[in-house]
Amino acid sequence: MPVSHRLASYGTSIFTEMTRLANEKGAINLSQGFPDFDGPDFVRNAAIEAIRAGHNQYARMSGIPQLNNALAARWQRLTGQTIDPDTQVSVTNGCTEAIAATCLGLINPGDEVIIFEPYYDSYKPCIEMSGGIPVVLTLAAPMFSVNRDAFEAAITPRTRAILINTPHNPIGKVFSRDELRFVAEMCIRHNLIAITDEVYEHLVFEGEHIRLATLPGMAERTITLSSVGKTFSLTGWKIGWAIASPDLSKCVRSGRQFLSYSVATPLQHGAAAAVSAGPEYLDQFLRDYRQRRDLLCQALEDIGFVVYRPTGTYFVLADHRPFGFKDDRAFCTHLIDKIGVAAIPPTPFYDNVEFGQPLVRFAFCKKLDTLNAAIERLQKLKT
Ligand SMILES: Cc1ncc(COP(=O)(O)O)c(C=O)c1O
Repeated sequence: MPVSHRLASYGTSIFTEMTRLANEKGAINLSQGFPDFDGPDFVRNAAIEAIRAGHNQYARMSGIPQLNNALAARWQRLTGQTIDPDTQVSVTNGCTEAIAATCLGLINPGDEVIIFEPYYDSYKPCIEMSGGIPVVLTLAAPMFSVNRDAFEAAITPRTRAILINTPHNPIGKVFSRDELRFVAEMCIRHNLIAITDEVYEHLVFEGEHIRLATLPGMAERTITLSSVGKTFSLTGWKIGWAIASPDLSKCVRSGRQFLSYSVATPLQHGAAAAVSAGPEYLDQFLRDYRQRRDLLCQALEDIGFVVYRPTGTYFVLADHRPFGFKDDRAFCTHLIDKIGVAAIPPTPFYDNVEFGQPLVRFAFCKKLDTLNAAIERLQKLKT
């Protein structure tokens, strides 16, 4: 059966493709962003206890009260803003569903939504499935900064929203306060909604993570999306959320109710334990990731890559051109076939593919042993 016209052009996601190839060819998988270690016991045990205690039926559409309350308390701790857990927090099946629900609930046919490339792979299809038009601005190497003139020029009377990801996958960039102030100024001046994808909010190695919703005038016009997957090494749980004003939350929920309606009840109990975690967990988490980042970045530099050292996330972009391959696909094919390491060719995250062709993305959400084994294989590139 042919895939619908709406989706046919998107094909299979690059993550599915690379993970399949890695498994098939026995390559060490530094492609898809999931850890090869487990999430913390206190979170997993909370979910197991919830199953045993009989929390196994449909949950409330917007999330179980324990999780909504825990997320509102966490938001208060992180931002100082008091929000209503019942009308301003919507639990979703991962950030992925939060993105889809937000687009479906917010965008009218013909509305334009500004996104930056490289973009996370679900942004464009979700905007388009909602009838919207993605307007793509490039974050170009080596600085990957926001081109303010291009941003202003991209705003038209049809612009409805901007979708921004900070810390940014795959660049590893944490948007600066100055850049976000500019984005806020544009949103306020042109009456735009900001959708922020903050799934790497606790993986910031240098600088600070600024939540757009905390800038003056932005709380009322920002939908903040995140999830437990990355922060708690539980990517398979797919528990996410959207935090927004009651009016914007209504938009998200109107989209959500016809997607999955509700989210796995026992895992929400686990997620409530997770998001209530104190700073000890998050501090250790960051220390561990800093070690992984430093190990991989140093090794990639020694091997001969030009490395764009990430200040956030668990990805590193590197320039593979010193090895003489035509583009990112050719390089990643060689890597998987001849070196035994899987990485992501980033052109699927670009409209203007020439910006992605020199680059390769490695994920370092892996055990030190896995990273060391991959580094050993990557040494073969030197010869
Ligand atoms: C930027 C970004 N947004 C969203 C997601 C998906 O999050 P979730 O697994 O919570 O659906 C990912 C996962 O890799 C991501 O990198």
